[in-house]
Amino acid sequence: MNLTELNRIATAMVASGKGILAADESSGTIKKRFDAIGVESTESNRRDYREMLFRSSEAMSQYISGVILYDETIWQDAADGTPLVKLIESSGAIPGIKVDEGTQALPMCPGELVTVGLDKLAERLKKYYERGARFAKWRAVIDIGSGIPSMTAISVNAHALARYAALCQAAQIVPIVEPEVLMDGDHDIDRCYDVTQRVLNKTFQELRIQRVALEGMVLKPNMAISGKKSPKQASVEEVAEKTIRLLKACVPAAVPGIAFLSGGQSDEEATAHLNAMHKLGPLPWGLTFSYGRALQAAPQKAWSGKAENVAAGQRAFSHRARMNSLASKGEWQSSLEKKAA
Ligand code: 13P
Repeated sequence: MNLTELNRIATAMVASGKGILAADESSGTIKKRFDAIGVESTESNRRDYREMLFRSSEAMSQYISGVILYDETIWQDAADGTPLVKLIESSGAIPGIKVDEGTQALPMCPGELVTVGLDKLAERLKKYYERGARFAKWRAVIDIGSGIPSMTAISVNAHALARYAALCQAAQIVPIVEPEVLMDGDHDIDRCYDVTQRVLNKTFQELRIQRVALEGMVLKPNMAISGKKSPKQASVEEVAEKTIRLLKACVPAAVPGIAFLSGGQSDEEATAHLNAMHKLGPLPWGLTFSYGRALQAAPQKAWSGKAENVAAGQRAFSHRARMNSLASKGEWQSSLEKKAA
């Protein structure tokens, strides 16, 4: 393992003014997104859509540091035969790959999940590296509800995240460690704070036990935020203040960067929260976005599967990427949203 090189890549992933495009929806998830815009989820439509994003030169060269790909996409070529990975590289962004194989029901723990995919991971990482991937992602899912999460769910998922991270570093790939506490429930922000704290503490304990070098990883957490169905919705300032307090308490300064998931927040909320956090600096790590939905909802709608809408889709993507880039420096204002439309 070359830790200097892992640290260089992790630092580039969270470079000031840049963030990560999570375009790694599984075939099932992208079908749901395409259903919403009336597009059939065929292999070529998925390719055309992602090619549109990766050819958005303004966004890709100025605001996006890296792209998380799904297995199908990393092996696909653009319409002109150029591998999609090469398109990403030539824009200056770093290709990455989602390597978990989704979730399964956790035995003895009703309603809880464990992320799977460790078997043969070492061999798969080698092939992804050869294809150009320099970082990877593994997502653990922790739900909040009555009596959950259990310590069992937190513990097995943290263990798997650390096993994955160690295998990545041994393969010279920077692991994005993503323990996602879902915001789907009716819990308030303080319950989210408590659960996320337990999850992050356990995750870092496992990372240490399994000798993962913190300097060569990126953390992808949820924010401390109210559940979507909570009657008590925390303000932007409260989300920012509690998220920063939580991360400072749980994430060692040796970690080069933190890149948030959007998790079902609206596009503008995800941007406003990141921006407000940067008003509370200085911070001990890079702090940016690794959004899926909050970067792609607008371009998906603008594109709607039509070749004549590619330029409009790219404009919508560049706009969201620029807004989040500004937020990652604390320079975003809501008035900038209106001007763009
Ligand atoms: P969202 O931003 O849509 O939550 O997706 C980010 C991601 O990569 C989830 O694993």
